[in-house]
Amino acid sequence: MVSKINQHLYFLSLIIAIVFGFALIRSADGQYLVGVGSYDMTGPAAGINMMGYANLFQNTAGIHFRLRARTFIVAESSNGTRFAFVNLDAGMASQLVTTKVLEKLKTRFGNLYTEENIAISGIHTHAGPGGYLQYLIYSITSLGFVQQSFDAIVTAIVQSIVQAHNNLKPGSIFIRKGDVENAGINRSPSAYLLNPAEERARYPENVDKEMTLLKFVDAASGKSIGAFNWYATHGTSMSRDNLLISGDNKGAAARFFEDWFSSKNESSSTTTSKFSTSSDIGKLMEKSKTIKATGGQQCGKTTSQGFKVRKNDGSLFVGAFCQSNVGDVTPNVLGAFCIDSGKPCDFNHSSCHGDDQLCIGRGPGYPDEILSTKIIGERQFQKAVDLFNSATDQLSGKIDYRHVYINFTNIEVVLDGTGNNTVKTCPAALGPGFAAGTTDGPGVFGFQQGDTEPAVLPIQILRLGKLIILSVPGEFTTMAGRRLREAVKDTLINNGNGEFDNDTHIVIAGLTNAYSQYIATFEEYAHQRYEAASTLYGPHTLPAYIQEFKKLAQAMAKGEKTTKGPSPPDLSSVQLSLSLNPTGDSPPAGKMFGDIKEDINQPKDGSFNKGDRPSATFWSANPRYDLLTEGTYAVVEMLQGKRWIPVYDDDDFSLYFKWSLENTSFHGLATIEWEVPTKAIPGVYRLRHFGSSKKAVNSTNHYFTGASSAFTVS
Ligand SMILES: *[C@@H]1O[C@H](CO)[C@@H](O)[C@H](O)[C@H]1NC(C)=O
Ligand SMILES: *[C@@H]1O[C@H](CO)[C@@H](O)[C@H](O)[C@H]1NC(C)=O
Ligand SMILES: *[C@@H]1O[C@H](CO)[C@@H](O)[C@H](O)[C@H]1NC(C)=O
Ligand SMILES: *[C@@H]1O[C@H](CO)[C@@H](O)[C@H](O)[C@H]1NC(C)=O
Ligand SMILES: *[C@@H]1O[C@H](CO)[C@@H](O)[C@H](O)[C@H]1NC(C)=O
Ligand SMILES: *[C@@H]1O[C@H](CO)[C@@H](O)[C@H](O)[C@H]1NC(C)=O
Ligand SMILES: *[C@@H]1O[C@H](CO)[C@@H](O)[C@H](O)[C@H]1NC(C)=O
Repeated sequence: MVSKINQHLYFLSLIIAIVFGFALIRSADGQYLVGVGSYDMTGPAAGINMMGYANLFQNTAGIHFRLRARTFIVAESSNGTRFAFVNLDAGMASQLVTTKVLEKLKTRFGNLYTEENIAISGIHTHAGPGGYLQYLIYSITSLGFVQQSFDAIVTAIVQSIVQAHNNLKPGSIFIRKGDVENAGINRSPSAYLLNPAEERARYPENVDKEMTLLKFVDAASGKSIGAFNWYATHGTSMSRDNLLISGDNKGAAARFFEDWFSSKNESSSTTTSKFSTSSDIGKLMEKSKTIKATGGQQCGKTTSQGFKVRKNDGSLFVGAFCQSNVGDVTPNVLGAFCIDSGKPCDFNHSSCHGDDQLCIGRGPGYPDEILSTKIIGERQFQKAVDLFNSATDQLSGKIDYRHVYINFTNIEVVLDGTGNNTVKTCPAALGPGFAAGTTDGPGVFGFQQGDTEPAVLPIQILRLGKLIILSVPGEFTTMAGRRLREAVKDTLINNGNGEFDNDTHIVIAGLTNAYSQYIATFEEYAHQRYEAASTLYGPHTLPAYIQEFKKLAQAMAKGEKTTKGPSPPDLSSVQLSLSLNPTGDSPPAGKMFGDIKEDINQPKDGSFNKGDRPSATFWSANPRYDLLTEGTYAVVEMLQGKRWIPVYDDDDFSLYFKWSLENTSFHGLATIEWEVPTKAIPGVYRLRHFGSSKKAVNSTNHYFTGASSAFTVS
């Protein structure tokens, strides 16, 4: 027995050694140059309409956690073919943002990064500040264009690309796929059923559950530097009533994943010994009683950056959760129910006795939308960890790309299998189902019939070895995405001279480079549910996309060039901006900014427990005077000896920064609320606020900070 076991162990260790050694050799060879970057893109946190639900009353009033732009760049060699993929914690990409980013990159890098080899993709959160798209239709509820939103996004994209570019070094890339369970269901299942039965029979579900993950490894150190994945589910875990800036479930997943990676790599001694405290709660409570709130104090512009828990020095691990063919996929997986009766909605119309406004989807944390965001984020995060830990399939082979602008107004489409049956797309228009919206919340964007302005759209194919990324400027439904992927794969295989085969893997990058709403199948279109009614260029929109993507795929497979197509309009000079900037703030008489208005409500037994929510309110100025980019408005500090150490900031899921106006005096208030996490270490804490104000429109910024009194967590 023993010798048998020993023998087994011997072979096992041999296998482990071989697998490991192999993995090390493979990861050390550095097939490509790879670089990752990340930058804060949190826009104005007060009074700006959020992009997504088109709800006039949904204006930002604080931050749940920050938004980021995350980039990876891959290159064949230092002067070889390359592309950059940017994942944005925004509702969608915007043509105007893309145009401005390209201008800035041209100044900096010449022709290294152009529209051809840059993809900018939105995660589709509905909880980010709007006003950054150039077509009025999308910015009408945000009262037009919002320069501050726009600048925050453009700057973050450029900075994340610069960081990734500066980080380029020999590296290896591994790919892994797997299904995410219970993070998305079809929200228009009756429309899906209109697709042919034979076609539906080829798929186990009415949504795509597959997540595709790329893992980037530095060849020299063997360490992972980042991971990006694609998976389709809407950023609508947060509802149309939410007022806090949030990356929704994908932003949350990214925060969890990056934190998981950094905690995995910190030696446990540094974290626990740094924060280990006497378990003598009595002593801590005595100590905390003597530490009172500070008054408001002046500080410098970059002070809050010094209190940031995750300082962005360019060396951070970057984890990104990218969007895919998300058109009909909702994260509200409990289904849609009537808010009056609590019964499931009418299946065919997603309405309740004729009224679609009453039919609302429920997330797994219902009725707590923050909990739903966390759960759907965690389901994606956990799958990403699985795929990351088991990714051994190394990519090799060419990097390549093709890009073209297409005027969708009048494309002649030859329908497959019909010989010479030619149809046409139509000028942009919305069907009657559009205003009804979806079970995730009604939409009220409106188009004029025959609007040809937003007709020029980019499509793009990126190739990284056997991985093909399709950049689409909108939201393909599940079946529309499947048809597109299949058509591109067949085209590559049929034209590629053996370079592509069944192992070629295609992912759709949704909401990329520009935005044109939904793309449903012809059959779904007939039903005119929300997704179909928002398919702008008529019933043949999808065949038009497939036809044009096949042209790009063919060109890529044959090594041919493509034409540029018509240029999209740059409407930056004609943007209308009706939202007002804050015009100067002052604290109430006898107070300073940063002074406490309401201190910690100390618990009766003297100590807060996990799950409690200590909070404090400070007199403050409008957060729009300075976005505190890569800084923070809110910090939880822990007492270590005689020093206060920042342990959570406004990028943490457990910390809430809420902005409001005092309802009689109209002076600004910043409330910081901390939900004590289960992982919190017992000790003495306080809440700290940072802000900035101006006396008048053109005066200089004045920076301030203040802290609450101390409290104990046991
Ligand atoms: C690219 O750079 C390598 C060295 O880094 C050099 O040998 C090669 O000639 C360059 N190729 C081109 C096309 O510039
Ligand atoms: C939905 O509509 C289809 C076609 O009109 C009909 O056959 C089906 O019974 C309807 N389903 C429900 C649950 O009403
Ligand atoms: C797109 O094509 C239509 C029809 O040919 C034309 O009227 C329109 O001006 C074009 N739009 C742009 C922005 O080129
Ligand atoms: C193609 O179109 C021509 C002229 O409209 C028609 O005569 C012919 O039958 C069509 N062929 C097919 C295969 O549909
Ligand atoms: C092609 O790959 C898919 C999985 O990606 C598999 O289901 C299918 O059987 C393969 N087809 C062939 C012909 O190998
Ligand atoms: C101010 O708002 C709070 C919270 O909504 C409310 O409880 C309070 O009564 C209001 N005060 C006045 C003076 O309206
Ligand atoms: C602020 O400065 C701008 C640009 O210098 C000027 O146009 C504007 O009139 C000034 N506003 C006020 C209120 O002084």
